[in-house]
Amino acid sequence: MKNNMGNINFSEQLLSLWSVENMLVEKMPSMMDKASDFGLKKSLALHFEETRQHRTAIQLICKQLDIDLRNTSPNKQLQNILQEGERSMEGKQGGDLDTVIIRTALEVEQYEISLYAEAAEMAEAAGYKGIAGRLWLTQEEERQSETKLKFFEGLLLKETAEIGQSIAQYH
Ligand SMILES: [Fe+2]
Ligand SMILES: [Fe+2]
Repeated sequence: MKNNMGNINFSEQLLSLWSVENMLVEKMPSMMDKASDFGLKKSLALHFEETRQHRTAIQLICKQLDIDLRNTSPNKQLQNILQEGERSMEGKQGGDLDTVIIRTALEVEQYEISLYAEAAEMAEAAGYKGIAGRLWLTQEEERQSETKLKFFEGLLLKETAEIGQSIAQYH
């Protein structure tokens, strides 16, 4: 099966998503632990639960389509985002660390949003209506997570600006 963006195969796309969601289920808890803002921590924890459901959904779709999930290779692009994020987190704490966590998580969500949109379109093109519906639903949850992260990013920027202002008042 080929889509109109080249010869990306639907089952390869599902295998990418399987790798992505697995990696995230593995890596998200340490990001949650590192976050210091309570709201951010809680929001990451909620999305972690959704991420586990995303993984199960992909597993069920692959089972339905008879796609073998053994011996899948890790998704390079997500690996790079996570490695880059971990490098940037080193030596940081508090608000600075939260900023890097948010930036990394935003990159992850944006990547997931594009992967899910492509996968859902491929499912539609192949006539798998139910599967497409589930993939769009997941994509919507990734979008909502992105929106929440942007909210926390805005809060942090505002706090940093206010701290800057109050320091300036004393000089
Ligand atoms: Fe996800
Ligand atoms: Fe996500």
